[in-house]
Amino acid sequence: MAPGEAPARSFVVVVLAVIALSAIVAVAGKKKALSTVDVEDELDAARAAIRRAARQHHRRGGGGEGGDVGSANWLRFYGGEADYDLLSRVYRNPAAFYRSYVEMERRFKVYVYEEGEPPILHEGPCKNIYTIEGRFIEQLELMSPPDDDGGVRTWDPTRAHAFFLPLSVSQMVKFVYRPPSQDRAPLRAIVADYVRVVAARHPFWNRSAGADHFMLSCHDWGPYASRGQPELYTNAIRALCNANTSEGFRPGKDVSVPEINLYDGDMPRELLAPAPGLESRPLLAFFAGGRHGHVRDVLLRHWKGRDAATFPVYEYDLPAAGDYYSFMRRARFCLCPSGHEVASPRVVEAIQAECVPVVIADGYALPFADVLRWEAFSVAVAVGDIPRLRETLERIPAAEVERLRRGVRLVKRHLMLQQPPRRLDMFNMILHSVWLRRLNLRLHH
Ligand SMILES: *[C@@H]1O[C@H](CO)[C@@H](O)[C@H](O)[C@H]1NC(C)=O
Ligand SMILES: *[C@@H]1O[C@H](CO)[C@@H](O)[C@H](O)[C@H]1NC(C)=O
Repeated sequence: MAPGEAPARSFVVVVLAVIALSAIVAVAGKKKALSTVDVEDELDAARAAIRRAARQHHRRGGGGEGGDVGSANWLRFYGGEADYDLLSRVYRNPAAFYRSYVEMERRFKVYVYEEGEPPILHEGPCKNIYTIEGRFIEQLELMSPPDDDGGVRTWDPTRAHAFFLPLSVSQMVKFVYRPPSQDRAPLRAIVADYVRVVAARHPFWNRSAGADHFMLSCHDWGPYASRGQPELYTNAIRALCNANTSEGFRPGKDVSVPEINLYDGDMPRELLAPAPGLESRPLLAFFAGGRHGHVRDVLLRHWKGRDAATFPVYEYDLPAAGDYYSFMRRARFCLCPSGHEVASPRVVEAIQAECVPVVIADGYALPFADVLRWEAFSVAVAVGDIPRLRETLERIPAAEVERLRRGVRLVKRHLMLQQPPRRLDMFNMILHSVWLRRLNLRLHH
C-alpha cells in the first residue's frame, strides 16, 4: 500500500446496538500471517458477547432482571446505589457497556512503541490544562511487565489489538515551536518522521495502514500535527481533546478525550469534598474565564456583570481568588463555553462539583458519548442561543434539574484521574473508547 493511500474499506453492518459504532471497517492488509488470527478471533468473541448483552437490554425494554442484567457483578460494577432507570437514562445501553468493559479488561492488549526519547516521546505534561496528555502516556508506560498476564500493556506486539504511539504534541510545542514565528510545520515533520521510523522497524503499521494504531493529544494543535502523516490522520485512532467535528474529527474513528486542568498535578481538594445538594445551591448558573475566542466573546458581551446575585458571569474578576470552585459548588448550572478550541476543562470541573454542565460549543464531539447519553447529565446550548441562556435554564423544572444532577453524580468517576488508575476512571474510559473503535475494525489476512 502506498503511503497516504486509504485502506480498502468495506462496511459490514453489525448491531453493536446502541453503542454508537455501527459498522466494522475491514482493512485489507497486503501481508499475511503476523498472527492476526488469534487477535481477530479474540475480538470476534468479544463482539459476539457484546451483541448478546445489547440484545438482552432491548428485550427487557430497558429494565428487569435476568442473565447479566441485575446480577451481583453487574450491580457492583455500576455501584450499589444506582437504579436501573437511572442507568438506562445515563448509559446508552448499560448491559452492552458492562459487557464491553469486562471484555476489555479480560482481553485488550496494547503495545507501546519504545522508539524515541523524552521529552517529545514517552513524556508529556502532567499538570495544568494538558495534564491528560502526559498522564495517559505515563500511566500506560508505568505498567511493568506483568508476571501474571494482567494489565492492558503487552510487550509482545503479535498479541496486541492496538498499538500506541507515545508522542506528545504539547512537548513538541514546548521544545520545538519558536514563537512568534507561527511556523508550526516542524510539528508535522516530527510526527511524519516518527511514524516513518515505526513503520520501517516493525511490520504492524503497514499491515493496517495505521488503522489499529492510536495517538493521544490534548494540545489545541494535536489535530494539526496529526496531519503530518496522511495515514495517521485518515486511518489511525486519534484521541484528542480538540474534538472539533468541523476540523476533521470523526467520532466513529477518533476518540474525544476530556480536558482536565490540574494546576499542581493533583485533583483540587475543594472538588474532592462531598458536594452540596440542590437546596444549598442558590445560584442559577456560574461562569468565570477569559475572553478566548468568539464564543466567550458573545457570552461575556451578553451576560458579564448582569446579575451577580443569581447568575454570576465573570471575566478575570472574581470577587476573591480561590472562589472559583466555591461558586461551582453553589451553582445549579455551570457554563462551559468553548475557548480557543471546542473543549473546556470546566466540563470536568463542573461534574466534579456536581454542578450540571451547560455545554456551549458548536461541533464538539463530547467524550465517551459512545456509551454515555450526555443529555441525561448536561444541557447543550447552541452558540446562537446564548442571548436566551438565562430563560433556557430557568425553564428547566426543578425535578429535571435533580434528575440531571443524579446523572452527574453517576458519571463523576469516569471524569476522575486516579493514581494508579482505577476501574472506570478517566484513563480506563479513554482506553475503552479506543477498544470500541478497535472492535469496529477487522483486519483481514
Ligand atoms: C512500510 O512501508 C514503507 C513505505 O512503503 C517502507 O518504507 C517500509 O520499509 C515498510 N516497512 C516494512 C517493515 O516493510
Ligand atoms: C471548529 O472548527 C471550525 C473550522 O475550522 C472553526 O471555524 C471553529 O472556530 C472551531 N471551533 C472552535 C470553538 O474553535
